[in-house]
Amino acid sequence: MTDVQGTETDGEPGAGRCPVFDPHSPDLTPDRAYELYAELRATCPVSRGEQHGGYWALSRYADVRAAAMDNARFSSAGGVYVPAVSTHRFPPIDHDPPEHGRFRALIAPLTSPAAARRMEPAIQATVDGLVDRFIDAGRAELVEQLAVPLPLDVITQLYGLGPAQAEDIRGYSLEFLEHAAGEAGQDVIQRVCDYWIEVFAERRAHPGEDFISELLQLNDELHVPDEELANMMFILTYAGHDSTALGLGNALLYLAEHPETHAQLLEDESRIPLAIEEILRFETPLHWFPRVATEDVPVGDQLVRAGDRVMLLFGSANRDAEVFLDPDEVVLDRKPNRHLAFGAGIHSCPGMPLARAEMRIALSTVLRRLPGFHLDGEVERTSPLEGGGRHLGVRRLPVTW
Ligand code: HEM
Repeated sequence: MTDVQGTETDGEPGAGRCPVFDPHSPDLTPDRAYELYAELRATCPVSRGEQHGGYWALSRYADVRAAAMDNARFSSAGGVYVPAVSTHRFPPIDHDPPEHGRFRALIAPLTSPAAARRMEPAIQATVDGLVDRFIDAGRAELVEQLAVPLPLDVITQLYGLGPAQAEDIRGYSLEFLEHAAGEAGQDVIQRVCDYWIEVFAERRAHPGEDFISELLQLNDELHVPDEELANMMFILTYAGHDSTALGLGNALLYLAEHPETHAQLLEDESRIPLAIEEILRFETPLHWFPRVATEDVPVGDQLVRAGDRVMLLFGSANRDAEVFLDPDEVVLDRKPNRHLAFGAGIHSCPGMPLARAEMRIALSTVLRRLPGFHLDGEVERTSPLEGGGRHLGVRRLPVTW
């Protein structure tokens, strides 16, 4: 058996001759990640890694889902990075109940299904505006020209911010992506939080009909300090645009590689939402999230001890043949499709309605306006270490039509 660096591993129970999942391995390319997951599910579904402070990696769907649903025994309070680098906390993602529920209530005006429905005309206008900019050229790089700016423009519109501030936020995100798991990331976080505190002051002086004004108003009753609200804005914004950019990039890549599916999807656009879910399953944008056991818990044939860190490998669960027939195939009409790309349990992604609306509107528009679009050059995937070793997606997608 080999680890991701290609060396043999041996040792303790749970680690004995098991492949090792190391999110910070430079060899963990998207293709290698899926190979490794298959090995883990088959041989060591609850495997031990000793790097970065040590952790268990859960790779089977049933174990991953059960742990995600069991927030009492698998706490999120240890943070989202491994090792835990940040002195900041990012509500709601690294909070347990009851605080967790308080923060989910604060973001509800942004993340409710009704909010996503209300945004649809603005999302359509944003997609059309972005496509207008490149359509006459006959070619485009769809990550930089569509997948990245769309969710960023949408979330900044929801915040009531303008294009210059969208640029500021994109700059911070790029910096953070590069340094997420390191010291330099802390500096970026601090600057972003200071930025949000200035926006709060401005919005208190001039409230509008936007999410930030609504958030501050809701908070009049909850009294969450501005520093905590700023941390929440940091994770909301970062999650709110970069994850969607990855998911949309993956879907656009699939369509650019399979122009033969365009006519089918256009003929019956009601198939697009199912296709999106399937691509999210097949190419899971955020591959894992950690938890910490609050008590001794048996998982599979291992005993996870209180205080142990546990990695929930959502990317692996989504390829588990116990749950998905032909898991390594894209089946565009797959139904049911109980994928875990948005997680499960109390931390499941609140941005789902918005992400799904953005992806659906972008795909249907691209299919209609760039008929037969297909690859036109080298595709670049995320580097293995991006986003603290969690992100898998496309970073460059040149197409022509
Ligand atoms: C395709 C796009 C997206 C994917 C794949 C995705 C994925 C995820 C996953 C897997 C989690 C669960 C984390 C855990 O279990 O610890 C999560 C949580 C979260 N996501 Fe998303 N997300 C996406 C889009 C968005 C958007 C658009 C927003 C905001 C508008 C957002 C905001 C959040 C927040 C705030 C959490 C933390 C929730 C909590 O702890 O209760 N995400 N996301």
